[in-house]
Amino acid sequence: MRIVDLIEKKRDGASHSRDELKAIVGGYVRGEVPDYQIAAWLMAICWRGMQPDELTHLTQVMAASGEQLDLSSIGRPVADKHSTGGVGDKTSLIVMPLVAACGVPVGKMSGRGLGFTGGTIDKLESFPGIRVDLPAAAFVRQLREIGIVITGQSADLAPADGKLYALRDVTGTVPSLPLIASSVMSKKLAAGANAIVLDVKTGSGAFMREPDAARALARAMVDIGTAAGRRMAAVVSDMSQPLGRAVGNALEVAEALDTLEGHGPPELTDFAIDLASLIVELASDGAAGRANVEHALRSGAGLRSFRAMIEAQGGDTRAFEDRALLPRANYQHAVLAETDGYLTRLDALSVAHTATLLGAGRERKGDPIDLSVGVVVHVKLGDEVRAGQTLAMLHAGDEARLAPAERALREAIEVSEQRVAPPPLILERLVAPFAGSRA
Ligand code: URA
Repeated sequence: MRIVDLIEKKRDGASHSRDELKAIVGGYVRGEVPDYQIAAWLMAICWRGMQPDELTHLTQVMAASGEQLDLSSIGRPVADKHSTGGVGDKTSLIVMPLVAACGVPVGKMSGRGLGFTGGTIDKLESFPGIRVDLPAAAFVRQLREIGIVITGQSADLAPADGKLYALRDVTGTVPSLPLIASSVMSKKLAAGANAIVLDVKTGSGAFMREPDAARALARAMVDIGTAAGRRMAAVVSDMSQPLGRAVGNALEVAEALDTLEGHGPPELTDFAIDLASLIVELASDGAAGRANVEHALRSGAGLRSFRAMIEAQGGDTRAFEDRALLPRANYQHAVLAETDGYLTRLDALSVAHTATLLGAGRERKGDPIDLSVGVVVHVKLGDEVRAGQTLAMLHAGDEARLAPAERALREAIEVSEQRVAPPPLILERLVAPFAGSRA
């Protein structure tokens, strides 16, 4: 099979067979097919899409590109959660420890920042020394020993997604339903969890800007998971403004720690409790999720579970006591309100763009990112604003980046006389009927 023929086939809108997908994806993972051919093929998928069967095959081929974990030895459903990516989305760092603290084992495979969105794996690297490329055996051992593990792709687990994800990030091929669905679900299937909750974002700071597109993505992923025998649920959630206050890796870790300590932003706390409750209920046949999750938060059990995970993966946990030990930018600059009024716009994409100008994103595959930089907004949609008050703090490693970043942030913000109601965070819930258990 010549790869160029397969690229042309997709360019012309035809569907691939499972064997063709194996040739493309397998060839890429083995290093036989070069980046430039895969980049062209990915772009063709962005334009032409995929048929449902073709998407299921692509997901299965990607999941089978490495080891596929069988977690039945854990003896009970293992939970996983995945967001399709947003701005300031640090929910996994809060939700998964809360779920684990409720006694539901958590085994999660996450990604790095993609496009303008942040990634859990980059955020976790704010803890010096942490390992985020655990081989399969270490993943299962940690799951059994402490009940929570979060890792990135390794050579063992879904290596196809690791390679494709990094290439998509720098070739403008992220926002595509089949590419997102196969990326997310191949990781979920390979990591072996039985109860999977997907958080599909919509709004300017999401890959699926329109709610209908987000719903279609949610449905496609729930169907792939259900067909593989997993318990599946999804929410479609708002990403028209950043989630919480902090945007930028270490800044988000600090906010996640604050939230697990019980003093995070209220809307982020409520959202995390909602998602954690849904996961606990899905994994434990409807048991009292919410009461358990709220107790895990109040008692500090969630925070302890997060710390146990960071320690088990070799990370330095001193930042739990002293946030100043997280990566810290040299320059902080306050952006002040020019007029009185109400915040009527806090555009998530422009805030992400501001964080990128400060150095929080990648330009080329594998680029290092500055974990310390980013934006902390002090006001959210609907808040009252007084002239002279701080709208946001910019954190930069290089003073010269502050002025362009402030200009970009001012693009994100609008203060008007009329108050607007903040949009609800969860727009829709989808819980698939569960056909059978593999645990
Ligand atoms: N999250 C993923 O894991 N993959 C995508 O393609 C988008 C979000």
